[in-house]
Amino acid sequence: MGNSVKKHRVAVLISGNGSNLQALIDAAGKTDYPANIVLVISNKEDAFGLTRAKNAGIPSYVVNHKDYNSREEFDMAVNALLLQNQIEFVCLAGFMRILSARFVNIWKGRMLNIHPSLLPDFKGAHAVRDALNSGVKESGCSVHLVTEEMDAGEIIAQAKVPILPDDTQETLHKRIHQQEHILYPRSLELLINRH
Ligand code: GRF
Repeated sequence: MGNSVKKHRVAVLISGNGSNLQALIDAAGKTDYPANIVLVISNKEDAFGLTRAKNAGIPSYVVNHKDYNSREEFDMAVNALLLQNQIEFVCLAGFMRILSARFVNIWKGRMLNIHPSLLPDFKGAHAVRDALNSGVKESGCSVHLVTEEMDAGEIIAQAKVPILPDDTQETLHKRIHQQEHILYPRSLELLINRH
């Protein structure tokens, strides 16, 4: 049966396609990977990642931020689901909401985000476009701990990709995505092994 490692309970928060969610699900399918993806939460009901969760037999919930009066109320609804499901680590994977200080502090040291640039360069929602427009010759992706300040927590791991002369946002993001799918499972494992 291979090595028996303890499988920690991980939730993934998404807003869209969920290709990084898929990479985490695939990694967690291996017996020697120290996590199971046991919960998926999306703030968008049409996120394709919800289909990925369903196909993998993972419970998923939509928590629509429009149903809540404040950011913190939304965050606490998400937190309630995390607690009910005995979640130990949280992975943000294309989750397009800023989280409140209260939520971030609850999950301090146990919540990761993946960002499509070599942080601290190109923070924010347009990292791929901004890297392309800046004229730099390489970019990449970063997995970092989530802190109150956006895209600024401790970097767990990074991967580089070249920027080619004829790159468009699409071709560059595709190249970055390929690295993300390797980097995110590896980074989660690194974080778990610290605890
Ligand atoms: C990734 O590029 C990630 O770095 C960024 O959003 C994108 C999500 O892609 N935060 P996917 O939904 O995992 O396919």
